[in-house]
Amino acid sequence: MLTLAVYPGSFDPLTNGHVDIIARGARLFDRIVVAIAVNAEKAPLFTVEERVEIARAVFAEHPAVEVDTFDGLLVDYVVRRKADVIVRGLRAISDYEFEFQMALMNRRLNAMVETVFMMPAEQYTYISSRLIKEVFALGGRVHGLVPELVEARLHDKVSAVAK
Ligand code: PNS
Repeated sequence: MLTLAVYPGSFDPLTNGHVDIIARGARLFDRIVVAIAVNAEKAPLFTVEERVEIARAVFAEHPAVEVDTFDGLLVDYVVRRKADVIVRGLRAISDYEFEFQMALMNRRLNAMVETVFMMPAEQYTYISSRLIKEVFALGGRVHGLVPELVEARLHDKVSAVAK
């Protein structure tokens, strides 16, 4: 039987930490869906369409990776997709509390939905989309922390604002 995993998140923007988890998930499961939450961020930097386009381009050569969007409850999306598990990344103990709450709430909403946690490579354990946006906005270097396409798109955003 083929196993399908859903890796949900805001991905605003996609970081190399996300890419690392997706690559690990793709080795563990037959297929992994990067599921971009439509309304997770109140004021996102990248539109959902931009985030989808970026993730599709980054994983264009990886047939086991699919990029999709979802609205509403994650467990409903997981059921709709007939997926087996939710994958979430755990970077540090500080992630644990929120992830534990989400996993148990999702289990309460649907007892059939299981969450699997995966640890990224240690060089990515301190990266978050929020920090990337903040560092970049203040002129810091994010090279090596996000895919090159994301870095280019961050520069495009700044140029668009400067115009
Ligand atoms: O990248 P993020 O912001 O940590 O991802 C959080 C996300 C999108 C996975 C979470 O907010 C979510 O699942 N949202 C969908 C709505 C939902 O099901 N909420 C209840 C979760 S317990």
